[in-house]
Amino acid sequence: MNTKLIIANWKSHKTAASAREFLEEFEMLIQNISLEGKEILLCPSFSLLATCAEVIKNKNLPIKIGAQDISAFGKGAYTGEVNGEQIKEFAEYVIIGHSERKRYLNESEELLRQKIDQAKKNNLIPILCIQDENDFLEADIPYIAYEPPTAISTFGTGKAEEVENVEEVFATLSQKSSAKLLYGGSVDSSNIASYCVLESLYGFLVGGKSLEARSFSELLKNAV
Ligand code: PGA
Repeated sequence: MNTKLIIANWKSHKTAASAREFLEEFEMLIQNISLEGKEILLCPSFSLLATCAEVIKNKNLPIKIGAQDISAFGKGAYTGEVNGEQIKEFAEYVIIGHSERKRYLNESEELLRQKIDQAKKNNLIPILCIQDENDFLEADIPYIAYEPPTAISTFGTGKAEEVENVEEVFATLSQKSSAKLLYGGSVDSSNIASYCVLESLYGFLVGGKSLEARSFSELLKNAV
């Protein structure tokens, strides 16, 4: 079993109240699941980081926290930005360059470089998203999430990528980088096991199926 890191990317969903509800239900559901060898990383919106961190700490849940983005700047006069030092108060990881940010906010390579830099300066672990094996990547990035846009449930076909294709892309990526490789795109409780057989796979980035405690816990259970 190679699968170690399973990331819940909540995107722009949930309020503090519904985040709490999720965590309360999740606490009950995971009592019946073996989480041996599995790490759960929750990436909520910035506005929910403090609430999630507090609930996770109080309930002693086996969940780490990440942010979905980071400012390309440090602290200063950058209205609306959330910088690495601020994220670091609550989170250990940060997702950088998600397809949705590339598509809707035109994030450029230069910007991604700056964000990676800010993550590293603040000892946040960057998870760089890429759309294919030729996408921008930095050699010494610790985690790469391969997410073909066509496979993301909310755009494209919403059909998960064939396992063989993921394996091929991972083989190419392994030559370019020693990063731990994650797959994302329409991962659910019925297809997750088929990816877990891949030697080179380290984990998953999960969107839609991470939003309900039940679907996320089912998915975790089947990640073997
Ligand atoms: P999905 O999203 O699981 O809903 O396809 C994955 C992602 O965009 O990170």
